[in-house]
Amino acid sequence: MADAEKARTIALVNLAWQHRFIDEALRADLNRLFETQQFIMGEPVGRLERELAAYCGAEHAVACGSGSDALYLALVAAGIGAGDEVLTTPYTFFATAGAIDRAGARPVFCDVEENSYHINQDRAAALLAERPGIRAVIPVHLFGACAPFERLREACAARGVTLIEDAAQAIGARVAAKPAGSFGAMACYSFFPTKNLGAYGEAGMVTTNDAGLAGQLRMLRMHGSRVRYVHERVGINSRMDTMQALVLLHKLPYLEEWNERRRGNAALYRELLAGAPVRLPAAEGEGDRHVFHHFVITCERRDRLREYLLAHGVGCEVYYPIPLHLQECFAGLGYKRGDFPVAERLAGASLAIPVGPWLERDEVAAVARRIGEFYRTASSG
Ligand SMILES: Cc1ncc(COP(=O)(O)O)c(C=O)c1O
Repeated sequence: MADAEKARTIALVNLAWQHRFIDEALRADLNRLFETQQFIMGEPVGRLERELAAYCGAEHAVACGSGSDALYLALVAAGIGAGDEVLTTPYTFFATAGAIDRAGARPVFCDVEENSYHINQDRAAALLAERPGIRAVIPVHLFGACAPFERLREACAARGVTLIEDAAQAIGARVAAKPAGSFGAMACYSFFPTKNLGAYGEAGMVTTNDAGLAGQLRMLRMHGSRVRYVHERVGINSRMDTMQALVLLHKLPYLEEWNERRRGNAALYRELLAGAPVRLPAAEGEGDRHVFHHFVITCERRDRLREYLLAHGVGCEVYYPIPLHLQECFAGLGYKRGDFPVAERLAGASLAIPVGPWLERDEVAAVARRIGEFYRTASSG
């Protein structure tokens, strides 16, 4: 192998690559912002809300401080609180369940499907029938693929349960030709810097087609106030910084192209890893569009493969090593190891490899080559 290839590192995340596209125009806007000194909300946030609503195919977009706050605000806007149960997956980023607890409700977990990592719709529908305390369900569009929703939506509608999509990782994704965020009562997005559409700090958003919910969300993100110093409910401070809105406004025009580059890299992995002893992300169904926030393989000897890749300069990460029902902070919920065998198995076998738009095709090929090399040689013993 050439020395150049040995020395090269292939990053899981390379935000500097994205920054170059917007650097000049953003600096001009930031200079104007420094002149006005209006750092919270303001015209750019309203403009971003309109542009994101159009992009996501929703009537209303409400910007807020983070994806975690978006989930919390959506639950509280739906009237979820103490004594309520909220059904979700144990195989997600902590914030999904954290928001449920923060709203005063109790997370109820449902195992995921082996192939897709998504909440098992049949099991979720059964839990909805069994537990009348469940008042909301949060499916998560994990890794950039939209969770299938037909059965879940029917089961929610039959019981009057609110469906809230956690679309933090899936802006621009589609399922059965419907955009992520278009089948629940509300959808929550994160603009954490590493997301497909990333800010330069914390930022998030809730979309909805319901004007009443949009009004609640706007009020709740401002300490429960519509009119200054008049508080209808106890809300939180979750306004968006003007600077984050400017960054997102500059990045949004590139999102489609960047998502397509992710998809191109994923397609190349499918070709190059076809013979490797690893399981690839589930194939897309008709009308689906995976936006590959992460490209996650499921594999034997995951920890050794991870070490091997890191030692050879290939960034990789485990999303997520501990399912939420086994987290110490949720011990009080009474779950134990073995309750969600699929999530537990996936937590021990999944590995995200670089797929971002910053990757060139030869870098994708180099990652695939390293994986093949590991299973041919380094993994024995
Ligand atoms: C699935 C999921 N839900 C919620 C969040 C929370 O978003 P944030 O980090 O913006 O609070 C994230 C992001 O980190 C996420 O990946």
